Amino acid sequence: MTLWEGRFGSGPAAELWRYTVSLHYDSRLATDDLAGSRAHVRGLARGGILSEEDAGILLAALDRVEEELATGEFVPGAGDAGAADEDIHTAIERRVTEIAGDVGARLHTGRSRNDQVATDLRLFTKRALLEVASRVVDLQSVLLARAESAFADEIYLPGYTHLQRAQPVLLAHHLLAHGWALARDVDRLFDARRRLDVSPLGAGALAGSSLPLDPDGVAADLGFAARFDNSLDAVSDRDFVAESLFVLTLIGVHLSRIGEEMVLWTSDEWGFATLDDAYATGSSMLPQKKNPDIAELARGKSGRLIGDLAGLLATLKGLPLSYNRDLQEDKEPLFDAVDQITGGVSALTGLLASVSWDAGRMRAAADTQSAAAVDLAEWMVERGMPFRQAHSVVGGLVRDALQRRVPLAELVQAHPALGEAAVSLLEPGVAVTRRTTPGGAGPVPVAAQLHRFAEVLEAERVRLAAG
Ligand code: ARG
Repeated sequence: MTLWEGRFGSGPAAELWRYTVSLHYDSRLATDDLAGSRAHVRGLARGGILSEEDAGILLAALDRVEEELATGEFVPGAGDAGAADEDIHTAIERRVTEIAGDVGARLHTGRSRNDQVATDLRLFTKRALLEVASRVVDLQSVLLARAESAFADEIYLPGYTHLQRAQPVLLAHHLLAHGWALARDVDRLFDARRRLDVSPLGAGALAGSSLPLDPDGVAADLGFAARFDNSLDAVSDRDFVAESLFVLTLIGVHLSRIGEEMVLWTSDEWGFATLDDAYATGSSMLPQKKNPDIAELARGKSGRLIGDLAGLLATLKGLPLSYNRDLQEDKEPLFDAVDQITGGVSALTGLLASVSWDAGRMRAAADTQSAAAVDLAEWMVERGMPFRQAHSVVGGLVRDALQRRVPLAELVQAHPALGEAAVSLLEPGVAVTRRTTPGGAGPVPVAAQLHRFAEVLEAERVRLAAG
């Protein structure tokens, strides 16, 4: 069925139908569409456009459609090939009309699919972002738990710049670095959600209506914080999709960075971590293999997420006001990003909860002599030497040690500005304890950081519960 057949002499061409139909993906909006229709019906009744009786009939029909969708009795799109429903809005209206007869024909009064679909998608996005936030918080909880036990076990590893060993850091510090990135993501999810919390219903096709609609009441009924201010904007604005895609894509980028580290850490070359069997895959040919496929897909899928975001922005660019059918292209990238992030966050959560650390390998990699190079320089700074000079002294010793293949400790001991006392800085595990500044990588600031992170996590849980 089409909604416009009165104006047309013929039905749609099969090619038009195949090309323009969106039912196969927008069916996902069914519950939101039903919620929007219920609120719309109540608004029409409040305005006296629908009698209480007709409103009751329509609401009962909408309930029945919901039940039939759940039981599978009503299958949107089923019907004559080529004359099936174009989208979920059409399908539900058709079924309501089949159930409620003539009264069904009053459902779409004062409404267009343009304000309807924008409403549905905002309802969906509000819920989806909250669900994603809850999963990200679960991932953060695992990072915190792993950080707490790594802290108790005093595990440290090299911190890297340029992928070269730079200075030792506590493993807890490293894990929480990812946790803080995710905290910003959770904040962004709530922020995007707050901005999208606006009802477009009542904007009609683009200009509002001559009928006494009640957009404010409908917005409140649907749990939106406000209604639109401008009907043209209401039906054509997809900023909320773009913004949600950005936030989801950035989460994807963060997962990708964690994934890349897991790939490195679980390699034979690094050997910092071993995946739990349940979170690793095998090879079809090489019996010895244990592969980090979750971590690799977390890395790989960030590419398609960036594609989802870039594709939507390209769709929006250059669109004149107000609704254009191009906007139908908003849904698939959004659904894809929500699904990919939901799956990716959960899989990485499981991986990180079950991975085991090789603390010995981590410590051994961090305890190379030159890892304490800056500590030697700072030791001399504390005794009055300008840092640039101290840097040069230690740089010379490191170069010497490498060229002459002698232990750095020997050269340190022999140097007049260093000597016996400074040699203790080179002992295993000492350098990391010397990172004492706030937010730094040593035990003193990391203890405070663990506490602070737990507070942030608790505040996130409170926000989640408030919805
Ligand atoms: N399926 C359409 C979409 O997703 C619904 C709106 C159709 N509106 C229209 N004027 N053709 O955007």
